[in-house]
Amino acid sequence: MSLAPAWGAAVTLLALALAAAPAAPDAPPGPPAEPPIAAPVAAAPACGGTTVGQDSGVLQTPGFPGPYPVPLRCTWVLDVSHRQEPSIALYLTQLYVLSGLTVTQYAYYEREDFHMGEQLLLTVSEQTALTSRVVVAHSPYLVVRLRGQRLEGNQLRALPHLLAVFGFNVTWEARDGHPPPPARPSCSASACSLAGSCLASADFT
Ligand SMILES: *[C@@H]1O[C@H](CO)[C@@H](O)[C@H](O)[C@H]1NC(C)=O
Repeated sequence: MSLAPAWGAAVTLLALALAAAPAAPDAPPGPPAEPPIAAPVAAAPACGGTTVGQDSGVLQTPGFPGPYPVPLRCTWVLDVSHRQEPSIALYLTQLYVLSGLTVTQYAYYEREDFHMGEQLLLTVSEQTALTSRVVVAHSPYLVVRLRGQRLEGNQLRALPHLLAVFGFNVTWEARDGHPPPPARPSCSASACSLAGSCLASADFT
């Protein structure tokens, strides 16, 4: 009987419509043959994502330190609302991209069209990429957005060993209250990656 497959297809269509609605207004109509559950925009590389209830982690561009495909749109959402008095420190340890990257805190964030208390903390530029080492959000939600239109002329470069690194690879950690800026020395691309690679463990120890 053909009822079951038709019903399955209808459910699939509905799921696709729900999954695609907020993120991909320009997605082509019609489902692909084998839609994965909650898939990102078709053909886009895996990037971005939502982290809930974790206390630390790493955010990186697809294929870091290699080149990433452009145009690229990635949104990373860090949700540490499980903590008492949440704040989030983002350590810009390996930051080579010079534009198209923003860091924004929210009092509440559910999705791109439903959030409250927005405050832009950092817009990466040639200036800030060289001077910013840590961004601290005094809120439970931090959203990192990368809108990459091109690679050339948009990456920090120093001869000879930085010719082949692209994007970023940064660590973050959740904290409680308003602690003073991290006492641990935080390295950055400008401070040490020009001379070598700047690495940290996920909890920055
Ligand atoms: C990315 O950063 C983490 C934390 O600093 C580090 O452990 C990892 O090795 C880095 N990955 C690459 C490819 O450099």
